[in-house]
Amino acid sequence: MFTLAPMDSASNGAFDTTAPRALATEAVHAGRDDLARQGLHTPPIDLSTTYPSYDSRAEAARIDAFAADGADPVGPPVYGRLGNPTTARFETALARLEGTESAVAFASGMAALSAVLLTRSAAGLRHVVAVRPLYGCSDHLLTAGLLGTEVTWTDPAGIADALRPDTGLVMVESPANPTLAETDLRAVAHACGSVPLLADNTFATPVLQRPAGLGARLVLHSATKYLGGHGDVLAGVVACDEEFAGHLRRIRFATGGVLHPLAGYLLLRGLATLPVRVRAASASAAELARRLAADPRVARVRYPRLGGAMIAFETHGDPHEVISRVRLITPAVSLGSVDTLIQHPASISHRIVDADDRRGAGVSDRLLRLSVGLEDVDDLWADLDGALGTPARTPVPLSEAVG
Ligand SMILES: Cc1ncc(COP(=O)(O)O)c(C=O)c1O
Repeated sequence: MFTLAPMDSASNGAFDTTAPRALATEAVHAGRDDLARQGLHTPPIDLSTTYPSYDSRAEAARIDAFAADGADPVGPPVYGRLGNPTTARFETALARLEGTESAVAFASGMAALSAVLLTRSAAGLRHVVAVRPLYGCSDHLLTAGLLGTEVTWTDPAGIADALRPDTGLVMVESPANPTLAETDLRAVAHACGSVPLLADNTFATPVLQRPAGLGARLVLHSATKYLGGHGDVLAGVVACDEEFAGHLRRIRFATGGVLHPLAGYLLLRGLATLPVRVRAASASAAELARRLAADPRVARVRYPRLGGAMIAFETHGDPHEVISRVRLITPAVSLGSVDTLIQHPASISHRIVDADDRRGAGVSDRLLRLSVGLEDVDDLWADLDGALGTPARTPVPLSEAVG
């Protein structure tokens, strides 16, 4: 267990929120420190889209202040696209967990990444340096240049050489989706110099890794995954310094990718159990990775040195058959839920990436990605064992294995 560094005072409080508190404590209490004083136990869900005020001069002043630097408006909210008190609690809590000044929530992980790219383009910095693999749609957004950005793909050692005067962002995932390749974030941050490093921390979560402490200026999550944790919220969030958060809030206000307040509530609730969920699922994943690695039907297993609840593995047999035979495990894309999910990246999560680029990034056509949940580990193994089928006498040729 580690203790979190003190943050700037949010001083609303019943007690000193700046005192160092352990991650497990922050997970339960951050974003809720004012509740007891208000006589509340659970956070209120504020579904208002607009906020009545008889003082339109004061509203004008709040909008002017927001337009200047994107700071969260002080005083009563004005309009739901500018900010929401329930979502703000989740943002406060996530920033505490990631050890950043601020966090800005979005309607999805892709909306969060889009806002980051737009922020940089708006500053005239359209060039992005990125390391493969990334989640398939992140790769697609960059490769297709859908937001007017231009990408240079490189490996971590090539980052410094790939930087240009108009480079606005360096992007990495570690562990990466879906191969679980790990990057030395501190070394990469050093190579970036003054260019902001965005680390997608979706797979590790702040329970296992806090990229801001390693030099990443931006920490992105598909909050759809572990932060929500129950497969019922689509969301994204960027944890960063307050200056960058201001840019992101202005982009969010102008482009509209806001998070629904009910999702904000569910995410705050999800954070409370995040450390317990991640540790329990990681223990099962480590055991399943061990059993898979010892199984003759399995050709290759990847499990991060960092730990975590994700496993990538290749079978000698047809990966589509494995998917078709699971009974307890959910055969579905996505990850980080209480139930275990399995999917075939070449068919789903990374289908949109050009096949050669995908294979070049280590995403073979045989690769399966397992997101381990909270079920009993022996029940999970029994299901995997059945799904792996009888050992093939000779490996199924790839052309037959992957339709
Ligand atoms: C690592 C990673 N980043 C970003 C995303 C995009 O998030 P969302 O689906 O919430 O838009 C995903 C989705 O799978 C992901 O796995």
